[in-house]
Amino acid sequence: MNIIPFFPQLLFHCTIPVPENLIEYCSILGKGEKDNRSVYNGWETPNDLHKNEDFSNKFLKNYFLPKIKEELSTINFPNWNLQSCWVTKLEKNGYHVTHIHSGCHYAFAWYLNVTENTGGELSIRNPNEYNTELVLKKMDPRINDEYNLYPALNITPKTGLLVMFPAYLYHGVLPSLAENRITMSGNIVISL
Ligand SMILES: [Fe+2]
Repeated sequence: MNIIPFFPQLLFHCTIPVPENLIEYCSILGKGEKDNRSVYNGWETPNDLHKNEDFSNKFLKNYFLPKIKEELSTINFPNWNLQSCWVTKLEKNGYHVTHIHSGCHYAFAWYLNVTENTGGELSIRNPNEYNTELVLKKMDPRINDEYNLYPALNITPKTGLLVMFPAYLYHGVLPSLAENRITMSGNIVISL
């Protein structure tokens, strides 16, 4: 039997080195306003960090945005605008409940400080899970491996890793055992 995968979900990923002073800046953000949305045992800043002129000038306009745009230019990704941006810190045993990012096209997470092998995987649910669950359980596991056919795709975080995925996909973060897991996240909207 032959198989052709069709309409796949695309997850974009690359590495963007983390400036040292960004971690220090995040500890200052931790003393400021919080707006917890999906996080437990941790905190999130309000999601308008890109409107914070000091943060934007120091880390977005002259560093992160040119870097991510350079990466995306290699695949001719269309123009986009940063709709929202925030920093999250997970304390020990912190996690995010499953959620989506409504009103935008793609969501991204840039891992600023991650201790390896401490959990905290980004877990993206398979949107076709309902229709495919029985098949997934019974099919030759080599096929599941080849096409990433699982109930969820779990991504192991690493400092500097950037991942971007369709914002309509339900996702969460599995419990993290690290003391100081810091992520910068955001939503983008494709501009026509
Ligand atoms: Fe999210």
